Amino acid sequence: MSLIFENLTFFYKDQQDRKILDNFNLELTPQARIGVYGKKGTGKSTILKILNGEINNYSGTISIDGKSIAEMNNTSAKISLLYQNPEKQFIFPKIKDEYKFIVQNRNDATEKRIKKISHVFNFNLAEIIKSERTIFDLSSGEIRLLQIIFTLARDMNYYIMDEPFQYLDDEDRLHFVNYLDELNNYAILFLSSKKKVLQPLSERIINF
Ligand SMILES: Nc1ncnc2c1ncn2[C@@H]1O[C@H](COP(=O)(O)OP(=O)(O)O)[C@@H](O)[C@H]1O
Ligand SMILES: [Mg+2]
Repeated sequence: MSLIFENLTFFYKDQQDRKILDNFNLELTPQARIGVYGKKGTGKSTILKILNGEINNYSGTISIDGKSIAEMNNTSAKISLLYQNPEKQFIFPKIKDEYKFIVQNRNDATEKRIKKISHVFNFNLAEIIKSERTIFDLSSGEIRLLQIIFTLARDMNYYIMDEPFQYLDDEDRLHFVNYLDELNNYAILFLSSKKKVLQPLSERIINF
């Protein structure tokens, strides 16, 4: 059981002289907590575009539990992604609708997990749902926390989180560390441009 990036190489069509990903290799095994550190523009978010099928003209392979993602219809049954861009993550503007959608499409365990994680982060999700707020009414930090809660609420083996610490305060990050200790078999890959913040959450940091 692992998520393996093997010789992943990619360049955007208009920049053939600049490889955004150049033979990237990584194996994410159960319980792994790996941080990929890279400055802005180094190709971190591009990895998510490859994982979600937005980009497929890469070379190399990505396999999940032995199967290449090129042979899968989509990877969303296997990995849970946190996007740097919330617009990519949320289907509905109203948090209440997004919540309903997530809970209806999953099972009771999802609702329980959402409650639990909201509690860990000391985040008043119930109030946000009740007040009919949309993502446009929330602060950047609130949006990021919501994304984290919804991403972790999906019971998956692999979580890939793009800039999860952006807009979070120290206390949120502490809650994050505490919660990760409770997650057993899950493998997490953090992609971040903030090295110091990656350190307490990652067992290993790869420089991009
Ligand atoms: N569709 C695109 N066409 C051309 N260049 C792009 C495209 N999308 C992103 N890039 C460029 O590719 C580089 C890597 O982008 P990205 O993966 O978002 O970096 P990071 O997430 O590490 O900041 C950046 O220089 C970005 O401007
Ligand atoms: Mg990015």
